[in-house]
Amino acid sequence: MVTGSESGIGAATAALLRARDATVIGCDLDAGADIQADLSTPDGRRSLVAQVREYGAIDAVLAVAGGGRTGLLETNYFGAIATLQGLRPLLANSPAPRAVAVSSTSSLSPADDRIVQACLDGDEPTAVAYLAADPSAGGEAGGYGLAKRALNRWVRQVATTAEWAGAGIALNVVAPGVVDTPAAAYILADENIRNSVEAVAPQPFGGFPGRPEWVAELICWLSGAHNHFVTGQIIFADGGSEATLLRDMHWT
Ligand SMILES: NC(=O)c1ccc[n+]([C@@H]2O[C@H](COP(=O)([O-])OP(=O)(O)OC[C@H]3O[C@@H](n4cnc5c(N)ncnc54)[C@H](O)[C@@H]3O)[C@@H](O)[C@H]2O)c1
Repeated sequence: MVTGSESGIGAATAALLRARDATVIGCDLDAGADIQADLSTPDGRRSLVAQVREYGAIDAVLAVAGGGRTGLLETNYFGAIATLQGLRPLLANSPAPRAVAVSSTSSLSPADDRIVQACLDGDEPTAVAYLAADPSAGGEAGGYGLAKRALNRWVRQVATTAEWAGAGIALNVVAPGVVDTPAAAYILADENIRNSVEAVAPQPFGGFPGRPEWVAELICWLSGAHNHFVTGQIIFADGGSEATLLRDMHWT
């Protein structure tokens, strides 16, 4: 089950899975997806879960949908969490249940802890109100970076609990750098923005921008039955951007 299936990384992931003979249920805002739902709203999230339930058991939940088309916190945090939590029970009968959420290198930006904490508390009205009152609270990465940071933290908090690892479900995050998709068009189409983003967050391996297929390969591996031992990880698929920025910080 792949959200954001109609474009970019989600579309590349769905295509790769189908090429490997998986049956893919796609969900997107856009018509053309198997399931059309707006994950930025409580109704859309409920509709996703109800519609997937009609298909029966599933083996993997891939929460890829995101970006800035709809509310930043609502889509990139609350929509992703509702996807993962809402569909987790449908993984119960799978011999190799897996889940992956897509974050971003923007999650590395300094964030307003009040907003991140409101997200982690599941308090969507408060988180959204804080951001509306102070749109600069997320710094350069804005509400998008805040949402992705909260997503990373949520996965780190729950991946090893009874509901996930205890139930045999691997839950990981893939955090891409700048990838050539419509979501990154505002960066890539303007030479000045492109150059300044690349200067701040270089991608010395693979290039700037990366390709959606390269990220899809990692999502597919993490969500496959051959992933026997990796869970709770935030894995940056970013051409070395995070390593350039943070170097050996985690280990000092
Ligand atoms: N492209 C990049 O440079 C980049 C970098 C870091 C992270 N990401 C993340 O990768 C993921 C995929 O983005 P992409 O680059 O493929 O962008 P994209 O715009 O090509 O695809 C995103 C898809 O998600 C869908 N979507 C957006 N809001 C939705 C909603 N409310 N409900 C249902 N579907 C919705 C869109 O319709 C679209 O089909 C996102 O989570 C994004 O934040 C992208």
